[in-house]
Amino acid sequence: MSDRLFIFDTTLRDGEQVPGCQLNTVEKIQVAKQLEALGVDVIEAGFPISSPGDFNSVREISKAVTWPTICALTRAVEKDIDVAVDSLKYAKRKRIHTGIGTSDLHIKYKFNSNREEIIERAVAAVKYARRFVDDVEFYAEDAGRTDNEYLARVVEAVIKAGATVVNIPDTTGYCLPYEYGEKIKYLCDHVDGVENAILSTHCHNDLGMATANTLSGVLNGARQVEVTINGIGERAGNTSLEEIAMILKCHKGIGIDTNINTTKICPTSRMVSSLMNMPVQPNKAIVGRNAFAHSSGIHQDGVLKNVETYEIMNPKDVGLDDNAIVLTARSGRAALKYRMGVLGINISDEAKIDKIYQEFLKLADQKKEVTDDDILVLAGADRADTRAVSLDYLQVTTGKGFKSVASIGLDISGQKFEEAATGNGPVDAAVKALKKVIQKKMILKEYTVQAITKGSDDLGKVHVQVEYDGNLYYGFGANTDIVTASVEAYIDCINKFRIK
Ligand code: KIV
Ligand code: ZN
Repeated sequence: MSDRLFIFDTTLRDGEQVPGCQLNTVEKIQVAKQLEALGVDVIEAGFPISSPGDFNSVREISKAVTWPTICALTRAVEKDIDVAVDSLKYAKRKRIHTGIGTSDLHIKYKFNSNREEIIERAVAAVKYARRFVDDVEFYAEDAGRTDNEYLARVVEAVIKAGATVVNIPDTTGYCLPYEYGEKIKYLCDHVDGVENAILSTHCHNDLGMATANTLSGVLNGARQVEVTINGIGERAGNTSLEEIAMILKCHKGIGIDTNINTTKICPTSRMVSSLMNMPVQPNKAIVGRNAFAHSSGIHQDGVLKNVETYEIMNPKDVGLDDNAIVLTARSGRAALKYRMGVLGINISDEAKIDKIYQEFLKLADQKKEVTDDDILVLAGADRADTRAVSLDYLQVTTGKGFKSVASIGLDISGQKFEEAATGNGPVDAAVKALKKVIQKKMILKEYTVQAITKGSDDLGKVHVQVEYDGNLYYGFGANTDIVTASVEAYIDCINKFRIK
């Protein structure tokens, strides 16, 4: 019989820490429900003491989700634990994830403390959390760089104190796969009472080894993995859920199963990418748009003769649907609603669906086929309804041999403004015209353009980073016209400015 591996998803906590990826509570609930449908065992829903928004999200996700355990992160601090307990009030199954840094670097520089005192604080936090919940996970931050002997003492102490799961994070993504595996094995072999808790992996991808390290941890005894959709997370990200799930599915010989319904992987990946405005690299394993695209003649020939010549997985197993209905200008509202449902967007408000459908028809007039990515963008644009600044119109004249000229119309809280400007290219002219209306000292720090799929009629996505009043803001825009998308991304930032 296969062993069971628990999947702990931290897309909404570690994943959401990525600058520019912040979601509002409604969006987080949408992701949490999709994670539930995907079959994850634990959803880390946030770090409740960090902000009222995080607290509220943990609380609302607790109400919205039934099967997975809802987990809240804390430091090894009583106040953090109190707030986490409160945020988990409505969870059907709840877990507190508390912890402290255990590497000598963390002990000395973060805590100005010593090894014995850190064990005392760890034990006290676990005991305190156990007063409120039965399921307490302890994380030994920077365990990857903590020496194994001391780490074993910490793990033994927290299990005795009542920890049900012990997380061994490679916080900085430093470990080599064999080292990380040996660490887990060392703990399995040297910790008294280790059978009373589950050991968990939590690997970061700074050196591109997160998945290899996680797998090595599992092969050496870990029975929970902490992962994110598309591998998003701090810096280079976390281990990606889809990679671990498909490795175990493809390599049945390992003898370890998860509860993941792999056919939900691609829809979940698209939803997270779209809501977080975080593009997936085209060659990303499992969910990148080229992951199943055979381009060389030799490969295409082989696949046509026998698909197994170059495919180790069936695209349908990860939810890539060859027979997806192609939506065009002739598609009805019902077809759009159905497709949104498949993509995990379940909107019950009929007026909202009407609005998205009208936008869909406009886009379908500009493009031959409306793709899933387009639909996610259209549904996402609907979330921007309440913003103060919106684009009424934009007209740009551009071409070789003369300066571009842009005129712009903005609606700012119901008032209309118009301006015109020239620039070194259409985007420059349009942004200059926008700045004439807004009149704030904004500096464009980063500008990225991404075409989604194929074809010159495709939607272009623009990501910008703008500095205003000492703060950085991230904005996103999508349009078949790249200049309009650029202006919309800029406006997205402006709508986020904190005005003092
Ligand atoms: O990477 C890390 O160490 C973490 C902990 C807070 C679990 O994210
Ligand atoms: Zn982490």
